This record gives sequence, C-alpha cells and structure tokens, in this order.
Amino acid sequence: MSAVDTTRIKAVIPAAGIATRFLPATKAVPKELFPVIDRPVLQHVVEEAAGADIRDILLVTGRGKTSMVDHFDRRPDLEQRLIDRGNTARLSAIMEPADLAEIYTCRQAEPLGLGHAVSYAESHVQGEPFAVLLADEFTDPNDKLLSRMIDLQAQTGGIVLALLEVPRDEVNRYGVAAIEQTDETDVVRVTELVEKPEIDEAPSNLILIGRYILPSAIFDAIRVTGPGKGGEIQLTDAMARMLADGTPVHGIVFRGTRHDTGEPGGYLRTIVELAMQRDDLTSFKEWLTNFVAQQGEG
Ligand code: G1P
Repeated sequence: MSAVDTTRIKAVIPAAGIATRFLPATKAVPKELFPVIDRPVLQHVVEEAAGADIRDILLVTGRGKTSMVDHFDRRPDLEQRLIDRGNTARLSAIMEPADLAEIYTCRQAEPLGLGHAVSYAESHVQGEPFAVLLADEFTDPNDKLLSRMIDLQAQTGGIVLALLEVPRDEVNRYGVAAIEQTDETDVVRVTELVEKPEIDEAPSNLILIGRYILPSAIFDAIRVTGPGKGGEIQLTDAMARMLADGTPVHGIVFRGTRHDTGEPGGYLRTIVELAMQRDDLTSFKEWLTNFVAQQGEG
C-alpha cells in the first residue's frame, strides 16, 4: 500500500496509435487488444494501475479503436450464458476488467504525437498530478513501480520517470535521460532529457519506459512545444522544457521485469514469459522445453 492516497490519482493511457510495426494485424484490431495468453495487453496495463490503487483511467483512443473500451464494459448476455452453464471461473474472468477501474475515454482526432495525446487529459485531471501509462508495455504489479513513483512525486512535486538501463545500441528507439545519483538507492536526479538521440550522442543508456507521474503544469509546456522527432509533439520535449525551467525531475531506475509488447519480438517474449509462470499451462512448458532442445540438436 502506498503512503499517499493514490485513489485520488488518475491515470491516462494514450492508445490512439496505428501500430505500424504490427500491420496488417492492426488494420482492424487495436494492438492493445492483442492477447497475452487470455487477457489483452491493455488489461495487464490497467491491472498494473489498479495494483497502485489507481481507480480512474482516461483512455485516449483513436479512429477504429473503440473495441478497447468494450473490453472494460459489462457483457450481461455473456454473463447470463456462463451463469446458466455454471462456469464460474470464466464468469469472474469476464467481469474482472469492469471492476478494475472506472474507464473514461476521449478521442485523439489526429495522431500528432505522445505529447499531443497527453494534452487531451487536461480537463480530466483537474489540476492534479497524474500518471501516464503507455499501453504497449507493462510491469509486474508486485514490483510496485507505480506506487513508488507516486510517493516520490508527492515528495518532490515535480516530474517522476521510470528509467531502465539498456544496451547502448538500443537507446535511439527511446527517450534518454542524463542523471545524477541521490542518497536514495535507485532514485536519481534527471539533468537532461532527449527523445530518440543518435546512439553516439545519447547522454546515457538509461531510457524512459512508458511510466510517468506528471504535475498538471505539463499541459502549459505541451502547448508551447513544437513538433520534434518524427514531426510529432513529443512528451519528452515538453518535460525537457520544464526541466530547463527548474521543475525537479527524478527517475526511479527500474530493476524488475518490463514486458514490452510494442514490437513482434517483445510481444512473443511476453507471451512465453507469462505462460511459463502459469500453473494451468504446464503442458506448454514441457512442449517448449522439448522444442528448444530439438532446435539445439538440429
Ligand atoms: C515513447 C516515448 C519515448 C519512450 C518510449 C517508451 O516512444 O516517446 O520517450 O522511451 O515511448 O516505450 P514510442 O515507443 O511511442 O516511439
């Protein structure tokens, strides 16, 4: 349980993108609804938020992605059918998403970037600090990353980011932070932020993973942030502007498990990693072990 009353903190999940890396699969199906075994990616993300006691979530959707919202709605017809069949396990499984949090939605009319998507949350968060969770990655709620970030933001009043150490040759795909150590293990002071730098120009190999706690002043910063990398309005650029203006920016260096489902390789790894933890999938584990052994022999 967090030391702060996190039930007041709202979360924003930007999920309007087209996911070109998964085309043609994402032509009609949002990547956020791709299954990780039997739950969509987005449910894992909402579960992570719920694990930090966040109960109010704004989903920023886009054209053709309304089915994401349906997943968090009740399905009385299906519920009745499962009741009639006495299938209580599946019944509670289909009711679970609707119980996790209150889901609100709005539409990002044009995909103009992550900063632009976050700007849609301004009226919803009502001047309070809020969390941003990117919809194609999630961490294990047992790692308590979000709760720690919320507590830290309550102490600093500034921006709190989740950082992850990656091999140097991957930094150009992410926002990157330059840091200074603090007295607290895993908590660092951020001194510079760059969106997708060239590998040899990156200030470190600490990347921003898709978890942010932001003060509401971010909206003013986004308003005056022009297009950056890829011609998009970048959240990283708006945060860099606040940093330059004196807003404290801290990072928690995350050492737990992050599942990145945003590209096919990471998506497949996520499925296998989670399958290996499931007691009801032992036959899959046996199959995979044999399969890998056979590939090694071949
Ligand atoms: C976004 C952010 C980037 C961050 C990344 C994390 O990039 O712009 O700063 O490091 O998410 O996944 P995208 O993956 O949308 O290109």
